[in-house]
Amino acid sequence: MRVMVVGNGGREHALAWKLKQSPRIKRLWIAPGNAGTAQEGENVPIGADDIRGLVAFAKKESVDLVVVGPELPLSLGLVDALGEERIRAFGPSRAAAQLESSKVFCKLLLRQADVPTAECQIFRDVESATRYIKSRYANDRERTPLVVKADGLASGKGVIVCSYRDEVLDAIDRIGRKQEFGRAGAQMVIEERLEGPEVSVLAITDGRTIVPLPSAQDHKAAYDGDTGPNTGGMGAYSPTPIMTDELLETVQDKILVPSIHAMKRNRKPFRGVLYAGLMLTASGPKVLEYNVRFGDPECQPLLMRLKSDLLDLLEATVDGNLDSIDAPEWDPRPAICVVMASAGYPGSYETGSEITGLDAADKVTDVKVFHAGTQLKDGKVLTSGGRVLGVTAMGTSLANAKLQAYKGVQAIRWPGAWCRKDISDKAATYIEQLAAE
Ligand code: AMP
Ligand code: GLY
Repeated sequence: MRVMVVGNGGREHALAWKLKQSPRIKRLWIAPGNAGTAQEGENVPIGADDIRGLVAFAKKESVDLVVVGPELPLSLGLVDALGEERIRAFGPSRAAAQLESSKVFCKLLLRQADVPTAECQIFRDVESATRYIKSRYANDRERTPLVVKADGLASGKGVIVCSYRDEVLDAIDRIGRKQEFGRAGAQMVIEERLEGPEVSVLAITDGRTIVPLPSAQDHKAAYDGDTGPNTGGMGAYSPTPIMTDELLETVQDKILVPSIHAMKRNRKPFRGVLYAGLMLTASGPKVLEYNVRFGDPECQPLLMRLKSDLLDLLEATVDGNLDSIDAPEWDPRPAICVVMASAGYPGSYETGSEITGLDAADKVTDVKVFHAGTQLKDGKVLTSGGRVLGVTAMGTSLANAKLQAYKGVQAIRWPGAWCRKDISDKAATYIEQLAAE
């Protein structure tokens, strides 16, 4: 088979690495890819948002399957455009991708499907949102535990968690009037602020059959102990003890199944990876958001644990026959991914530093270094992004996997490189909590 992966992050490197292990792969392209994906297949210099360019390339090379990594091309309709040319693609249609690209669409679907989520109000302009808040809360310092969200894609920003009325009014102003998140702010959602630990559940679905993936947990805050600004994700591990079998069953029955059925009923069948961002509240799991793709970095430890052929799984999803293949097999050993970032990330950072020690890191037992923000130049690997590498390891225990991953990290150098030191430490706290219950 001739397969093309679209995207250039750590997730796409992991997808390419795993796909390459399939005996059925004949050619593998990554558009645009990074220095790491170039080790797995052939990089093609076409941007992930260049829909026309991607379709033309897939046609020219008679690509049999396109695997779309990030949300932007999905929301721009890449899967639909490929479909018009009879090219098969893994990922939801543009209409189904609205689950991630429009928070308003997502909230309306959750409401229709009676899926637990934060209570919300939807607004189309600053005035009505401001009026609503002022009518319900008397003064600026009144406690107002609400979250204001811009409707559209805003690269993980566009969500402002508030405690007091003045913060809510300021958030409405930033999203609606100042348009800090661009057109994403044309509509906004104001919802109740929920409390509890956050966890993600990912499932592969062909629109009818749902195959949940093992649990994984991201670390969104920049610094140790979940402090500092929000990032795209500083590390992840799988499985997480917080997701018990019982909880996973609840999530399937009360959240995933009704959501996917509602999408089908609305004639927007969902095919691909459905990623539920959940908060485990005192009254059960509630949906914070849906993503319509693999999480990055959750994808890296998950794919390291996948023993089955990824290509079989993706093809069955695209062809709508997930019910006819064997359930995927997972390595019971835990895996962890530690993200190494550029100095300054998630704020502004410099690029172009030479990275050394990559071979030594890859030689550490059970370690694989997935590249994210890297670029090949004159035979050297240079930094080219904020999140640069995802050093991923599997181990007989989570502690052992962590040790191996950080051994890998220690071998790698570039000026200003840093990472969180506590990836997966949360697991121990959850085990203590579960034992105490
Ligand atoms: P989202 O992109 O909607 O997942 O929001 C990004 C982050 O904002 C989440 O990972 C949560 O930490 C936080 N968040 C979003 N919605 C809520 C909510 N209703 N209550 C509390 N925190 C929230
Ligand atoms: N790791 C969070 C995300 O991919 O959105």
